[in-house]
Amino acid sequence: MDQSIGQFIGQFGIRSIPVSSCCIQIASVLRSKVSFPGTSSYEATQESYWSIQEASLYPSCIVVPDTAQDVSEAVKILAGFPDCQFAIKGHSHMPASGFANINGGVTIDMTTLSSVTINNDHTVVSIGSGAQWLNVYTYLDTLDLSVAGGRNGLVGVGGLTLGGGISYFAPRVGWACDNVANFEIVLASGELTNANATSLPDLFRALKGGMNNFGIVTRFDLTPFPQGEILAGVIANPISDRDAVFTAFSNIAGSEEYDPYASLVTGLGYNSSVKGSWSIGTTAVYTKPESSPAIYAEFVAIPSTQNTLHLTNLSTFADETNTPPLNWQFFTGTYGVSANLMSRIFDSLNSTLYNLELPSSWVFWDIAFEPLPTIMTQYGDKNGGNSLGTSPKDGNAFVMLLSALWPNSTFDEVVQETAEKMTRDIACIADDMGLLHEFQYINYADPSQDPIGSYGVQNVEYLRQVSRKHDPKGVWQRQVPGGFKLGLKY
Ligand SMILES: Cc1cc2nc3c(=O)[nH]c(=O)nc-3n(C[C@H](O)[C@H](O)[C@H](O)COP(=O)(O)OP(=O)(O)OC[C@H]3O[C@@H](n4cnc5c(N)ncnc54)[C@H](O)[C@@H]3O)c2cc1C
Ligand SMILES: *[C@@H]1O[C@H](CO)[C@@H](O)[C@H](O)[C@H]1NC(C)=O
Ligand SMILES: *[C@@H]1O[C@H](CO)[C@@H](O)[C@H](O)[C@H]1NC(C)=O
Ligand SMILES: *[C@@H]1O[C@H](CO)[C@@H](O)[C@H](O)[C@H]1NC(C)=O
Ligand SMILES: *[C@@H]1O[C@H](CO)[C@@H](O)[C@H](O)[C@H]1NC(C)=O
Ligand SMILES: *[C@@H]1O[C@H](CO)[C@@H](O)[C@H](O)[C@H]1NC(C)=O
Repeated sequence: MDQSIGQFIGQFGIRSIPVSSCCIQIASVLRSKVSFPGTSSYEATQESYWSIQEASLYPSCIVVPDTAQDVSEAVKILAGFPDCQFAIKGHSHMPASGFANINGGVTIDMTTLSSVTINNDHTVVSIGSGAQWLNVYTYLDTLDLSVAGGRNGLVGVGGLTLGGGISYFAPRVGWACDNVANFEIVLASGELTNANATSLPDLFRALKGGMNNFGIVTRFDLTPFPQGEILAGVIANPISDRDAVFTAFSNIAGSEEYDPYASLVTGLGYNSSVKGSWSIGTTAVYTKPESSPAIYAEFVAIPSTQNTLHLTNLSTFADETNTPPLNWQFFTGTYGVSANLMSRIFDSLNSTLYNLELPSSWVFWDIAFEPLPTIMTQYGDKNGGNSLGTSPKDGNAFVMLLSALWPNSTFDEVVQETAEKMTRDIACIADDMGLLHEFQYINYADPSQDPIGSYGVQNVEYLRQVSRKHDPKGVWQRQVPGGFKLGLKY
């Protein structure tokens, strides 16, 4: 059966087509780029999922497009059958079940579209949306250039950029999405087009924070900047010195004159199998080749059990090792900068976790704090704007990523309840102190949270309006159930 028949049937609205027929329709056009359960190609995608929750879903077929045109063909067919449900997969670093995979439907695995090229005058880097950040840094390091992207090279370009994207360069250039010059995108109609500051500017802004609600992005054109070596490493401290660490973090993150080259993540770790086993460490980066910048002097003076700060390049530092298959859960929150708040967050976490054990198994808790300074959020209304709603008027803040990782799925519920409780307790403490911010970073949010709502009423209304215009039938809202949706009715 050829594509025109697929479209023909779609046009006349035969809606109750069994799901596997969706696959047969696509396979009639994309042939061997569609794979079915039991084949090595299907298994390769299934095994590439980062979280157990995503790897445990079984689509009827998996489409692996080679070109943007392939994506367009697939969407044309899918959009013609409202009962065909599908998922869009990048490098699957959003762990929640169903965000990038689907039971019974069609999964479109974008990871083959991973080319990285640069234009002649080195002003635009074009990146296939299925690339990993390491592909990008490896390419750009040799040109003494970089872009704002993921800190861990294994993360996908697609999800990170569409959700905002916190890079080591954030204080210099804003969210990763603020550095997009152009999105090449397949719309609900199947049309392959560009969204940028002059062509479809409404979509351009909506995509910066809009995740998979507007189409399948096939290529990101990012604006690079000159970049040499960086100072980077991990400083680990005894947990008894945590208050000194919180103070050092807050002095950097809360500074009225934030050093734009400073980028850090301070994290707490706790393994449920060893009572009281708290650890604290900071990944500190200075995005200039300086071996002992003054900004880190306070950090470096705290007694440490490890300090690996050294000059390196991003493609080396971002080349992290992958984790084994595990269950993962993320929760997030945003708060005003305060060492006292961080200290109270620690006590609150400890009061919940101290007595939580999993019989003959374990869960590891990782609570990371990342600056969200005004010098970063000031880029939100430049270059056509983004839809995140973060603004300098909210002051210097920090984002928390609370993550849990555990091997045995028997404990999904207890981990979920515990993570939810801890996030709620922290929000209460921050609220009491007048430090609770509305923003919830979508790339760190749990399905029970409402990150799109946190962008603010005006941004939500804007996103809905752009969706009604470019996707009147709600292909991305109704046929792509995974991820945070816009709450539109049809
Ligand atoms: C180890 C680790 C490190 C991380 N480091 C950072 C970091 O430094 N900075 C940061 O900001 N975040 C970081 N994150 C969070 C990260 O931004 C999100 O997990 C991100 O969504 C991952 O993108 P992905 O394409 O790999 O994931 P996927 O799970 O494949 O995709 C995420 C969502 O985006 C959609 N999507 C993906 N590609 C496309 C596309 N081309 N078109 C339309 N929709 C698409 C998917 O449908 C899915 O709903 C990290 C996460 C992990 C697990
Ligand atoms: C980056 O650093 C690595 C390790 O030191 C080195 O092998 C590589 O050549 C460097 N890349 C560039 C482009 O300088
Ligand atoms: C914006 O999109 C138009 C229309 O596709 C295209 O001609 C133009 O080159 C794009 N601009 C950028 C900066 O990519
Ligand atoms: C937690 O502790 C258990 C038991 O000691 C160990 O097997 C596991 O690897 C630890 N997990 C992490 C992430 O360190
Ligand atoms: C964690 O809480 C337990 C129980 O209240 C307490 O004994 C312990 O000292 C706390 N740990 C830290 C590091 O404060
Ligand atoms: C998971 O935990 C349950 C309850 O403790 C146990 O019965 C089961 O054997 C564990 N599964 C694995 C794979 O360890």
